[in-house]
Amino acid sequence: MRKPLVAGNWKMNGNAVSINELMGLLVSGVKQAAEGVDVLVCPPAVYLAQVSELARGSAIKVGAQNACQHAAGAYTGEVALPMLAEFDCEYVIIGHSERRALFGEDDALVAEKCAAALAQGITPILCVGESLEQRDAGQALAVVGAQIEAVLTRCGIGAVADMVIAYEPVWAIGTGRTATPAQAQEIHAAIRAQLAEQDAKVAAEVRVLYGGSVTAATAAELFAQPDIDGGLVGGASLKAADFLAICSAAAA
Ligand code: 13P
Repeated sequence: MRKPLVAGNWKMNGNAVSINELMGLLVSGVKQAAEGVDVLVCPPAVYLAQVSELARGSAIKVGAQNACQHAAGAYTGEVALPMLAEFDCEYVIIGHSERRALFGEDDALVAEKCAAALAQGITPILCVGESLEQRDAGQALAVVGAQIEAVLTRCGIGAVADMVIAYEPVWAIGTGRTATPAQAQEIHAAIRAQLAEQDAKVAAEVRVLYGGSVTAATAAELFAQPDIDGGLVGGASLKAADFLAICSAAAA
C-alpha cells in the first residue's frame, strides 16, 4: 500500500514573516488534516533553516526545490545536497519544468542530480511532464517516457525505489487548467508500466504524484485515481487552508 504524499512547492514566494505565519497554521492544522499522509513543504533554500525549526516535532517534513549535483566546491550561487541534509531536508525536487525551461536543465543533468540526491540519502522528487505543444502533437507519453528513461539509464531501476516521481504537465502548471483525472491517470499508469518492464515490485511501490493547478476542489478526484499517490502543489500550497484541505483529500 503506497502512503500518499502531498508536497507544497512554494517556488520563489514568501518572506520570513509570511512563512512564520504559514508554518504556524500548517503545524497546528496538519495533525487533524493529514492522518496517514506524508506532508511536505519545500520553501526557497534561504528559508530552510527557519522552516525546519518551525516544523520540528510536527508531522511536516521539509524539502528543497533544487540542489547542485556537486557536493562542494567552486559553484557560485549553488546549494549542495550535504548542506540540505544539515537542515533536515528529507526530499528535494529535481527537474521541475521551470528549471528545465528557464534554467537549461536537461535530462542528463536531471539524472545526475537524482543520483547525487540518492547518494546523500535525500529522496529526489523527479518531475516529468510534456508541454502543450507536445501534448497536442500526441507526444505526451513519448516525452514523459524519455524523461523517465534518462533517469533509469543513469541511476538504475533499483534507485527508483528510493525516489518519488511527479507528473506535472507543463500546460497545467500555474494556469488554473488542471489535467482531468483521466488524463493524469493515463500518464501515471504509463509511467508505472514503463517501470514494471524492469521491476514490477518497484513499479507497484513507487509513489507517483500529480502536479499542475491542484486545488482543494480538484484534489479528491485526482487522488482517487488508482495510480495517483498525492500531489505536488504550487499556488495552493501558499494558503494554509487550501493546502490542508488538499492533504485531507489525500487522506480520504
Ligand atoms: P501550481 O499548483 O501553481 O500549478 O504549480 C504546480 C507546480 O509546479 C508544483 O511543482
